[in-house]
Parts: sequence; C-alpha cells; structure tokens
Amino acid sequence: MQPTITPLDATVGAIVTDVDLADMDAAAWNSVEAAFHEYAALVFPGQNLNDESQVAFANRFGEIELLRDDPKAKAVHVSNQKPDGSIMQPDEHRYKSLRGNEGWHTDSSYMPLAAKASMLSALTVPSSGGETAVADMRAAYDDLDQAMKDRIEGLSAYHSLYQSQAKNGFIVQTGAGYGFHTKGAPLRPLVNTHPVTGRKSLFIGRHAYAIPGMADDEAQDLLDELLDFACQPPRTYTHTWSPGDLFMWDNRCCLHAAQPYDYNEARVLRHTRVAGDPASELVVTGRDDRAAGFEPTASNR
Ligand code: OGA
Ligand code: MN
Repeated sequence: MQPTITPLDATVGAIVTDVDLADMDAAAWNSVEAAFHEYAALVFPGQNLNDESQVAFANRFGEIELLRDDPKAKAVHVSNQKPDGSIMQPDEHRYKSLRGNEGWHTDSSYMPLAAKASMLSALTVPSSGGETAVADMRAAYDDLDQAMKDRIEGLSAYHSLYQSQAKNGFIVQTGAGYGFHTKGAPLRPLVNTHPVTGRKSLFIGRHAYAIPGMADDEAQDLLDELLDFACQPPRTYTHTWSPGDLFMWDNRCCLHAAQPYDYNEARVLRHTRVAGDPASELVVTGRDDRAAGFEPTASNR
C-alpha cells in the first residue's frame, strides 16, 4: 500500500491517508519523507498511535529533543489537564506556557539547537476551538516585495522564551521549566535556507525580539509587520482535531499556533519534538535575555 498524499487548499500542508505510521515499509516512509519536504506540514488522520509508536515515527526524522531533563520525556502531554484529572488554573506556570502557544512561533528557536520538526497527536479535544494552525514561511518569504527582501537581507534576531513570555505579561524570575535556560538568547538570521530543499523562508515568530544594529522598538515593529503579513491565507492551514489525528510540521520553515478554546474543558495532545541538525540549527552564543533579579536554579543552568 502506498500512501495517498492530498495537498491542502493552502501553500502549505497535505493530508496523508492509506498509511499506518506504526507499520511502514521503506517505500511508504520514502513517500512520507518526500511529502514532508514538499508540503512542510502533514496531517495523518486517525492514526491512534501510542507513546512508543509516536516516538518511533519521530525517530525516523532524527533524534528526539527531550522536553524535560528526563530520558522519558520524549513524548510529553501538551495539556491543560493534570495527571489527577483536574484542570489547570490561570495562575499556574504551565497554563501560561499553553496560552503562550497561541502566539505564532517555531519550536525551540530560543534553545541553542532549534527543532527540526514537531508532531502532535490528539488524545482529548475540546468541544470547539483548540485547533492547531501552521503558516508557510517559504511562501511568506517568496511573497515579500523586493524592498522588504532587501531590507531584511543579512539581518538576524535574538530568540528568547523569557522575552516572549514577558510580552504576554509573564515575567520569569527564576528558572521554571523547559526553555528557561541560562545559555542566552541565540541570534538567528531572519532568512533561513532549508538544509534539504535549499528554499528560503522567513525565520521569525513570537520568540524573536531584538535585531543587532536596530533600536528595539524599531526591531519589534519590523518583526510584527513581517509576522502579520506572513501568517495570512493562502499561507495558513488550521487543523481541527479529531482524537487519533497526528499533525506535524517542519519548524525550519513553518510557524504554528494553538487556537483558543474554553480552558475549563480538557485538551490533551501528545507532543514529540525532533531535534535540529547541529550543522544547520545550532547557535552556540547568545546574549543574556533574562529579567533583572533572575536567579539560576539547578534545573535551568
Ligand atoms: C507545541 C504547540 C500547539 C497546540 O506543543 O509546541 O505549540 O495547538 N502546540 O497545542
Ligand atoms: Mn510550539
């Protein structure tokens, strides 16, 4: 059986059917990988993977990025429901990271090694809302006018989770979970060249916050202008979840954003993140991006 690949009505994304992600031969995998490079985001309806089969599928793309300092954190729940079944409250740290996910972003751009790909599969979905949207930063770059392409050529931005959470009114004073490390904010070019396809894309999103050689407010205006332009149809696709779906995207050339829902209802997605390739996604130096008074703790050094 060969997978059926049906492009979505957008510049990004395809639906892949006639495939069992837990049981693929080499030919099926080759066609999934080729579709990933061509469409940058893939929907696999009704896969109903378990933790092990999702991690095994992710491993076909590369090493897994651990989302906690724990070898078991290869598949983690992105969820407003706690293990005891209760729903998180707005003053909780993890609630604020979920709300942060509603801003367009690319995963781990604030880490020294940015992510290659991310995949989510739906376990529990709310009665409405809570979709996941992606935006095509390849088409966004292509569609910029020449003056803007010239303006951003050679520019880079710092990326920081401290800064993006602070923009949402959440100042992190002490290390509080994944991404709040002390290695500094990596500096990444605004125009990224895909290591496999060679296509250029905009590399922006909510974690980008300052541009060397530019006043911070001017940089923020430019980043906002690019983001507003980029994340518009026909460059976006919004996935409405059914339990069992798996949705994945290429973080090197897509942004994504959770859509709001009634946070009194449970929403549980399983997330697996594929690490970037050090040859193309690693930035070893960064500038201090933490709030004044920040105290490193053992877990975030
Ligand atoms: C993530 C994320 C979006 C969503 O898990 O990195 O951004 O829809 N999730 O929950
Ligand atoms: Mn994300």
